Amino acid sequence: MATIDLGGGIPAAELRDDKPLAGSFGGDDIILVRHGGKVCAFAGKCTHQGAPLETGMVIDGTVRCPWHHARFSLEDGEALSAPAFTPLDMFTVVEADGVVTVTVTGKAEGPRPAPSAPSIGRVVIVGGGAAGHACADMLARSGLGDDVTILSDDADAPYDRTTVSKDYLADDAEREDTALLQPGLGRGPAPKVLAGVAVASIDVGSRAVVTADQDRVPYDVLVLATGATPITPDTVKSAENVFVLRTLSDADALKAAAKDAERAIVLGASFIGLEAAASLTQAGLAVTVIARDSVPLAKVAGPEVGKFVQALHEEKGVTFHLDRNLTRFDGHTATLDDGTTIEGDLLVVGVGVEPRIDLAREAGLTIADNDAGGGVVVDAQLRTSVAGIYAIGDIANYPDPRLGHPVRVEHWVHAQRQGQWLARSLLGAVTGGYGDTPFFWTGQYATSLHYVGHVAKPDHRRIEGNVAEGDFAVFLTEDGKEQAVMTCGDHDEIALEKEAAWDAK
Ligand SMILES: Cc1cc2nc3c(=O)[nH]c(=O)nc-3n(C[C@H](O)[C@H](O)[C@H](O)COP(=O)(O)OP(=O)(O)OC[C@H]3O[C@@H](n4cnc5c(N)ncnc54)[C@H](O)[C@@H]3O)c2cc1C
Ligand code: FES
Repeated sequence: MATIDLGGGIPAAELRDDKPLAGSFGGDDIILVRHGGKVCAFAGKCTHQGAPLETGMVIDGTVRCPWHHARFSLEDGEALSAPAFTPLDMFTVVEADGVVTVTVTGKAEGPRPAPSAPSIGRVVIVGGGAAGHACADMLARSGLGDDVTILSDDADAPYDRTTVSKDYLADDAEREDTALLQPGLGRGPAPKVLAGVAVASIDVGSRAVVTADQDRVPYDVLVLATGATPITPDTVKSAENVFVLRTLSDADALKAAAKDAERAIVLGASFIGLEAAASLTQAGLAVTVIARDSVPLAKVAGPEVGKFVQALHEEKGVTFHLDRNLTRFDGHTATLDDGTTIEGDLLVVGVGVEPRIDLAREAGLTIADNDAGGGVVVDAQLRTSVAGIYAIGDIANYPDPRLGHPVRVEHWVHAQRQGQWLARSLLGAVTGGYGDTPFFWTGQYATSLHYVGHVAKPDHRRIEGNVAEGDFAVFLTEDGKEQAVMTCGDHDEIALEKEAAWDAK
C-alpha cells in the first residue's frame, strides 16, 4: 500500500487527537501525532525491533510500542522506558491554513549531549544482564558514565537474553545481532564493563566487592543485578547431552549439538522450554516435550491458552508427553514414570530458574522466604536491608503497590525498567516507589503472546475473544480482583491499555 507523502501536506482535519497517522518523508516511514494541541512527527519504526508505531498507543505524553511496550516521549522522541534505548528521530512539522506538512528531516547526526548530573559517587553494578545494563545506561545517559562499573561473570558483553531461546537458537539472528547498545548511547563517558569477572563476596564494612581473583572494587552505591540460574533436576545432572539455556554460550553449545542431531527432548513446558521447542523445530529437529503439567502454561494463564499454545507446536510436529515425570536420561534415552522411553540426541532443560542470591545471603542481606517468592528483600525504593546496597531484576523481591504484597518477577522488560527506575531514583529524578506494571512477551513460531500484571496463582479467569483462533484477552484474578491479562492478536491493545492503567502513578 502506498504511504502518504507527508512532505506534500495533508488536511489537518485528517489528524485525530492521540491517534498516530503513518506516512513517509524523504523515503523514511514516519508517524504524525496530534497531542496536547501540538502536532509532532517521528520516525515510524520502533528503535527496539522495528515495530510500526502507527499501531502503538498514545498515553500520558508518550507513544507506546505495540510489540514490547517501549515508551517514547512526544516532546523529543527520547526512549523513556525499555526495551528501546535509542530515541526516535524527530521531524519538523508545520500546521498552517488547515494543512499539516513535514518540512525537515529529523535524522540525528550523532548522540544527544548528556546533561551533567551531580555525582552520586562510585556505582558498582554486579551483573551485566537486563537490569544491570539498563541501570548503567540510564546513569551514563545522565553524564555519570565515568563513575559506573559493571562486573559480569558472563564472558560476553551485555546482550539480549530473550534471543537466546528464540531467533539466535533458531539461527535467525547472528551473534552480533544480540548485543545490547553501549550503555549511555555514546552520550558522555561510557561506563566500564568488565565481562568475565565474577564477584566472590561483598565487604559490607569497607564498602568494596571482592572478585574471584581477589581484586577489591570499592563502591559508594552497590547494585546487585545477579539474575537467575536454570534449575537442573538430579535425574539429568550427570548425564551427557544435557543443555540449559541462560547465556549466549549455552545457546552456542546447544546449537553445536543440534547441528549433528535429529531428535531433541525438551524437559519442561515453561516459556523457555516451549520457545526452545519452537526454535529447535524451526532448525529442523524432531522435538518431544516432557512435562509434569497436564496442559502447558495452564497454571499461568489457564488451560484454554495452554491448549492453544500446545496446538501451535503440534501443528509443527512437536510431540507432548504431559502429566509425566522423567525418571532417567542416559544421554540418549529418556525414561518416564509410566515406563515410556523416548530416544533423543540431546535434552534441553526448561523447568524454571532460581535467583542467584549467594552473594547477597553471604553479605547478610535479608532474603525472602520461598513461599513469598524468594530473592533479596528490597523496599519500594529497591533498597536492600544493608545501607548503600540495592537489588534489581530477577533477584529483587519488592513490594508491588497494586497487589499490596511483595513479588519477585522474572521478565526482561521488568528487569530493565527496575534498572532504569533505580538510576532515576539515585539521580533524584523520581520520587515515591517503583510501581511499573510487570510485562512480558513470548514468541513461538509466528505467534506472540503478551502478559501484563502479575498473578502467581490465578483463582479465576475471564476470557474475551476466541482463544483457539489466537485472538484473545484472558484476564486473571487474584483474591477476586483482575490483576493480570494475557493477550494475543488484535486483543494485544488491551495489554497496552492495562499496563498504563495499572502503573502506579
Ligand atoms: C533464554 C531466555 C529467554 C527469555 N525470554 C524472555 C522473553 O521473551 N520475555 C521476557 O520478558 N523475559 C524473558 N526471559 C527472562 C529475562 O531474560 C530475565 O527475566 C532477565 O534477563 C532478568 O534480568 P536480570 O538483569 O535480573 O538478570 P540476568 O539478565 O540474568 O543478568 C544477570 C547477570 O549477572 C551476572 N552475575 C551473576 N552473578 C554474578 C557474580 N557473582 N559476579 C558477576 N556477575 C554475576 C550474570 O553473568 C548476568 O550477566 C528469558 C530468559 C531466558 C534465560
Ligand atoms: S519493537 Fe518496540 S519495544 Fe520491541
